[in-house]
Amino acid sequence: MTNLLTAVAWPYANGPRHIGHVAGFGVPADVFSRYQRMAGNRVLMVSGTDEHGTPIQVQADAEGVTPRELADRNALVIAKDLQNLGLSYDLFTRTTTRNHYAVAQEIFLGLLANGYVFPKTQLGAISPSNGRTLPDRYIEGTCPICGYPSARGDQCDNCGNQLDPVDLIEPRSKINGETPTFVETEHFFLDLPAFAQVLGDWLQAQGHWRPNVQKFSLNLLDDLKPRAITRDLEWGIPVPLDGWRDRPDKKIYVWFDAVIGYLSASIEWAKRIGDPDAWRAFWVDPDARAYYFMGKDNIVFHSEIWPAMLFGYSGVGAKGGEPGSLGVLNRPYDVVSSEFLTMEGKKFSSSRGVVIYVGDMLSRYDADALRYYLAVAGPENQDTDFTWAEFVRRNNDELVAGWGNLVNRTVSMTAKNLGSIPAPGALTDADHALLASAKAAFGSVGELLAKSRQKAAIGEAMAVVGSANKYLSDMEPWKLKNSDPERMASVLHVALQVVDDAKTLLTPFLPSSSSTVHAMLRGDDQRWAGMPELVEVDEPTAVGSPSYSVLTGDYDTGARWESTPIDVGRPLAAPTPVFVKLDPGVVDEELARLGE
Ligand code: MF3
Ligand code: ZN
Repeated sequence: MTNLLTAVAWPYANGPRHIGHVAGFGVPADVFSRYQRMAGNRVLMVSGTDEHGTPIQVQADAEGVTPRELADRNALVIAKDLQNLGLSYDLFTRTTTRNHYAVAQEIFLGLLANGYVFPKTQLGAISPSNGRTLPDRYIEGTCPICGYPSARGDQCDNCGNQLDPVDLIEPRSKINGETPTFVETEHFFLDLPAFAQVLGDWLQAQGHWRPNVQKFSLNLLDDLKPRAITRDLEWGIPVPLDGWRDRPDKKIYVWFDAVIGYLSASIEWAKRIGDPDAWRAFWVDPDARAYYFMGKDNIVFHSEIWPAMLFGYSGVGAKGGEPGSLGVLNRPYDVVSSEFLTMEGKKFSSSRGVVIYVGDMLSRYDADALRYYLAVAGPENQDTDFTWAEFVRRNNDELVAGWGNLVNRTVSMTAKNLGSIPAPGALTDADHALLASAKAAFGSVGELLAKSRQKAAIGEAMAVVGSANKYLSDMEPWKLKNSDPERMASVLHVALQVVDDAKTLLTPFLPSSSSTVHAMLRGDDQRWAGMPELVEVDEPTAVGSPSYSVLTGDYDTGARWESTPIDVGRPLAAPTPVFVKLDPGVVDEELARLGE
């Protein structure tokens, strides 16, 4: 048994999330966590909404509300969407909690004490017409690295590099178009070059990462510069130092605070379960492993900046130092990064309406239909296009006609002809072969899931479904009722066992429908796949909201990653369909919504 931290990227609370977001971090992290729990490991899956920084400020300004109002509203919308998707967070919280503020400030101070954070003046942008500081994201210009003409001051969306607004070619204000002037301003910096050696040694040793992620991360080391970790912004976590704490215009950089969320959420979880030190088993125990799930635009923060922060806080790096009061903290064990999902051939864009929000999707289709699509056709290893035609086809041909049909015909034939799970007679080679292949799949699918090769994993699980459907077509048990009832019973016994096995194999991907199948075969007195709950915490946030909501859940249902013999003699009722077949007209309807 290993302690596994599943650290899931924190969605920005500047608006509802679309399916591209959950394809990249939410669903893969949930599939991983559900499998690992069933395999007998202790999992702590944490995340929350990322609520600071310019993205929130920009959107709040656009809507004419305060950043806090915007964050409160979207945090709840996002939590509900993720709940409806069945993502099994042990804690999904927020970056505006008091706990998070305290932990983020503790990490800042620990890095400062060890000399890895230092103050320095740099050039900051202001709008010449009104003298106001112009945050990085409000500045646009040509990327000095790739030449992309609409790079933002903080990041180029074309080449993915982190930028300094001073380096933009032909910078301009996104607010009023004027050319910013740059004046001296003081900020704190993270001394990344001091981690060149430890980061390099550590990254070299990560041979179990996806090769492109390891390579990309190693390449980043060629260009390590100190990075500003404070910003000219009102909305954010105060710098915990005299002379800074109360400044309305300087805050900790959103990315610096957001990555600390993994740790602060673990600490909050431990407090919530009444065992305040429980987080240590996932962060300080050197045998624990931390898996981070995100889209590829987040790699630099998880493979370079966050590890550097963890090293520095722990007193590891060119300047040495002492571990802070939280102890020597574990680095990521794996950085599982996915590629991008596009929508009908285009980049997702809320402003241009090229988007399908999670909430809208789930108001019209089942969570498992979306989860299935993302698992078989998501952007695991390459950029991938979501099309409605493919969504409908996969749903109808694979989920409904493949898996749903197997469940339905096996259970209904048994219910109608026998009324209960039959005992098998003598088994044939074909019977043994099917049973053995289903059993063997626990090994092969499990191995793939442990390595986050989820596409291959669901492919192998669905291959068991395919074999079982073929078996039924070959055996034609419906023809045996009068001629050979004993053989019919054997065939249905074998098929039911494999349905139950397939249900277990598919549980990480399709938790809700697997619970339905489980209840059909085993009664509904035993829980199968645990589901997240939204719980209101009666505690003010750091920014003064009176209470907030988190997702949490009890996922320890006893479901195990193994074949379990079905109960001979258990009554079976006629099944109701597990999946909904979609009318092909759905494709045109949805394309019309997109304005196609
Ligand atoms: N909010 C960021 C995004 O959507 C992800 C933050 S992940 C964490 O790209 F590192 F901050 F946790
Ligand atoms: Zn660029």
